[in-house]
Amino acid sequence: MTITASSASRAAEILSRPVALNGLTVPNRIVMAPMTRMFSPGGVPGEDVQAYYARRAAAGVGLILTEGTYVGHESAGQSDRVPRFHGEEQLAGWAKVAEAVHAAGGTIVPQLWHIGMVRKQGEPPFADAPAVGPSGLRVDGTEGTGRAMTRGDLDDVIGAFAEAAAAAERTGFDGVELHGAHGYLLDQFLWAGTNRRTDAYGGDHVDRTKFAAEIVAAVREVVSPDFPVIFRYSQWKQEVYDARLAETPEELEAVLAPLAAAGVDVFHASTRRYWQPEFEGSDLNLAGWTKKLTGRPTITVGSVGLDGDFLRAFAGEGAPVQGIDDLLDRLERDEFDLVAVGRALLQDPQWAAKVLSGRFDELKPYDPAALKTLS
Ligand SMILES: Cc1cc2nc3c(=O)[nH]c(=O)nc-3n(C[C@H](O)[C@H](O)[C@H](O)COP(=O)(O)O)c2cc1C
Repeated sequence: MTITASSASRAAEILSRPVALNGLTVPNRIVMAPMTRMFSPGGVPGEDVQAYYARRAAAGVGLILTEGTYVGHESAGQSDRVPRFHGEEQLAGWAKVAEAVHAAGGTIVPQLWHIGMVRKQGEPPFADAPAVGPSGLRVDGTEGTGRAMTRGDLDDVIGAFAEAAAAAERTGFDGVELHGAHGYLLDQFLWAGTNRRTDAYGGDHVDRTKFAAEIVAAVREVVSPDFPVIFRYSQWKQEVYDARLAETPEELEAVLAPLAAAGVDVFHASTRRYWQPEFEGSDLNLAGWTKKLTGRPTITVGSVGLDGDFLRAFAGEGAPVQGIDDLLDRLERDEFDLVAVGRALLQDPQWAAKVLSGRFDELKPYDPAALKTLS
């Protein structure tokens, strides 16, 4: 894929259209993908985090999905530099982030996160908290030093997500995104590889979706009816990149339908390369199938504007710029509704402004050195 002159004029036309997500109107189709940055000591996002997000809103990102932020459950995380979405000081910090993004003309949604069995006991912010998950299995299939969740644990985590969602609305955010992707807690329930439960929360695709659907329903209950609830999910898991939740569209529907029924307004289908067809016999990518199966607006993601997927970023590698003609074609066909951009926006706060004004020649390749600062 190369950058052509036609993509310059088409980009503004296609990406600049506003879109309604429940009660929220997003001014254009460009979304900042959630990216953990670890610049929030004590779990408190400070002025540098405010400025980081506001810079991207000012340069035309329509919707910012924040980095994953821990819900108020002691086992939710394993870093004292990842922002938390509970506690007075932490929420006061977040309120200022939302205010700064709004002042810059953008919209912003926190990504609510619980890492489940990925946690290593002994790590902050709550060193004594055990790792918990559906069956006490880590994503690589080994037994961790954690435990299978009890009824009490399930209720506590459902409550923590609901409280965080209520706090998001109260502190001025425009919606919430539930992190149900990449092998973290909600995904550990969705995926047969980590969910071996024999109670109502394990079994077939619908049974395994029950926990996430109950979280969605609990969130829906505490926020206003028009407050958007986004659900991010993926086939792939951290460390198990060829894992699949669903081998067929029918299996995918069994996962997505209960979530939609519970109150998801928008699905965010996380893939590493947006142009890859998800199932044989169709060009549709995962977001395309999600939209077709649920009728809900969807967000696509994965190597937008870059040649080389983000695993290379974790391996410390860069990625050259790539054109977006194919992406624009798919948006024009309404295969999906919004486009999340990760590394390209991490690298360059001006990415959206450049794309919306056709300045493709000014786009920068991704350099992993960008991870070191919050510029
Ligand atoms: C540094 C970094 C941190 C990330 N942190 C998160 C995260 O907190 N939550 C999440 O859902 N995805 C996370 N991701 C995945 C991105 O949201 C995105 O899906 C991925 O980078 C692919 O998009 P890209 O090819 O445009 O970078 C992260 C990716 C990177 C590079």
